[in-house]
Amino acid sequence: MTHQRTPHHVAIVMDGNGRWATRRFLPRVAGHKKGMDALRACVRHCGERGVKVLTVFAFSSENWNRPADEVSALMELLAVALAREVPQLAAEGVRLHFIGERSALSDKVRDGLEKAEAATAGNTKLAFNVCFNYGGRWDIAQAAARLAARGEPITEASMAEAMALAHVPDPDLIIRTGGEQRISNFLLWQAAYSELYFSDKLWPDFDAAALDAAFADYASRERRFGKTSEQVAQKVA
Ligand code: FPP
Repeated sequence: MTHQRTPHHVAIVMDGNGRWATRRFLPRVAGHKKGMDALRACVRHCGERGVKVLTVFAFSSENWNRPADEVSALMELLAVALAREVPQLAAEGVRLHFIGERSALSDKVRDGLEKAEAATAGNTKLAFNVCFNYGGRWDIAQAAARLAARGEPITEASMAEAMALAHVPDPDLIIRTGGEQRISNFLLWQAAYSELYFSDKLWPDFDAAALDAAFADYASRERRFGKTSEQVAQKVA
C-alpha cells in the first residue's frame, strides 16, 4: 500500500438533486431536501470511517443564476439546517467551517454561520467545511488580494496560507456524483494532487455503500505527487 487507506480529506460535488426530483415529478427543491438527508448520512459515515476532513460544495458563486425560487429555497434550507442540525453535529464532535463570500448573504444567515462555527469550535473528530457562495477562482483571487493589501510577496506558500481552506491539508479524494466529469470551479488551487472519483449516482442516492466503493477505489490508486513509481515504492524523499 503506497498511502493511507482511508482518505484524510474527502471533498464532494453533490450533483444530481434536481434530476433526482424531476425523475419523480417533484419540484427541484424536493431533491435538495433529499440531498440534505444524504449529506447528514455522509457526515456520519465519514466520521465512522476515520475521515478527518469533509468538504462539500453546497452553493456555488454561479448558483445565483438559478431561478429565484430555487435560490431562495437553498438559502432557506441552509437556515433550517443551521437551526436543526448544528446541535447534533456539535454533539458528534464535528467542527463546522463555512467557506465562501459571506457579504452577499442575509444578516440572519451570516449570524447563523458564525454561531454554528463558534458552537463547534472545540470539536476535533471531523472538520466539516461547507462551501457556500464559493468558487475556486473567488478563493484564489481573494487570497491574492489579501496578500497584495498587506504588501506581502505572492508565493505558493503565502497563497496557500491565505486561502479559505488554509486550516486543512489539501483534499486526498474529490468525489463528484451525478454523472458529469468536471471540476466546476471547486477547489481549483487545492485539487492539484487530489484523486478524482466520478459516480453516476445522483447525490440523494449516494449512500454509505457508494461512499465505501469510492474509498475502496481510492485505496487502489498509486499517488506519486510527480515522482516515479519506483521512487514511491522505495519511499525516496
Ligand atoms: C447540485 O444538484 C446541488 C446543489 C446545487 C445544492 C447542493 C445542496 C445540498 C446537497 C443540500 C445541502 C444544502 C445546504 C444548504 C447545506 P443540481 O441541483 O445541480 O442537480 P441537477 O444537476 O440534477 O440539476
